Amino acid sequence: MTILNVRGLSKRFGGLQALSDVTFAVPQGQIVGLIGPNGAGKTTFFSTLVGLIRPDSGTIKLGDASLVGMKPHKVAALGMTKTFQNVALFAESSVLDNVLTAGLLRHDVTTAREQALICLDRVGLRSVAHKLAGELSFPERARVELARALCTGPKVLLLDEVMAALNPVEMQEIMDLIRSLRDDGLTLLVVEHHMRAIMTICDRILVLNFGKLLADGTAQQVANDPVVIEAYLGRSMEAHT
Ligand SMILES: Nc1ncnc2c1ncn2[C@@H]1O[C@H](COP(=O)(O)OP(=O)(O)OP(=O)(O)O)[C@@H](O)[C@H]1O
Ligand SMILES: [Mg+2]
Repeated sequence: MTILNVRGLSKRFGGLQALSDVTFAVPQGQIVGLIGPNGAGKTTFFSTLVGLIRPDSGTIKLGDASLVGMKPHKVAALGMTKTFQNVALFAESSVLDNVLTAGLLRHDVTTAREQALICLDRVGLRSVAHKLAGELSFPERARVELARALCTGPKVLLLDEVMAALNPVEMQEIMDLIRSLRDDGLTLLVVEHHMRAIMTICDRILVLNFGKLLADGTAQQVANDPVVIEAYLGRSMEAHT
């Protein structure tokens, strides 16, 4: 069953074509990687999907619902949300309150608090729930961002470089978490520069270059695609692992 269906999505910023006629569909329960060089349009793509950026043309459907023109909180209420590449938490609020506010989209305060604790447990941060968010390390903040997204109760979760700056052990934990979320029925789109991680966890990989979808296939297919190698992987592949 297709859960996300994107047709002909385009977005221009002044003279820059940030997204160019992007078309693809995702079946429920897939883990899809989205890779491409810096500035390829990955974050713009995610922002457009969740209603933070309005596309110039194209359609986005989540199940039967058409999303273009909808505000981000409506898109989140329908079940799709994204993490932010530049994590911005309320530094003077507790970790719990930072996560709880996301849960208010669906729940009253009491239930949102319970849900926030469950989500913090899920990302391994239950023990720091009452710390101020500003006191956390960078990798911990990325996990709070993930817990915050989870607390909106998504069906489709878009993760924008949640593994940046993590050590190998922390990365493995996040990879295990992504898999367990999928086992719970979530569909995940994952932007990541760590090539080995993306090749390991994703059922399928999309390659974006200058806003255009360059390839769409399994890790094996994409890694062996001459067009992808020339545009992105090439000699720099080792540098990205
Ligand atoms: N609001 C904006 N206004 C103008 N240009 C923008 C805006 N947002 C992004 N861009 C430009 O659009 C292009 C795509 O940016 P985007 O952030 O989507 O790339 P990315 O693939 O996420 O890159 P990275 O891997 O560095 O995170 C870049 O050239 C960027 O400078
Ligand atoms: Mg980005």
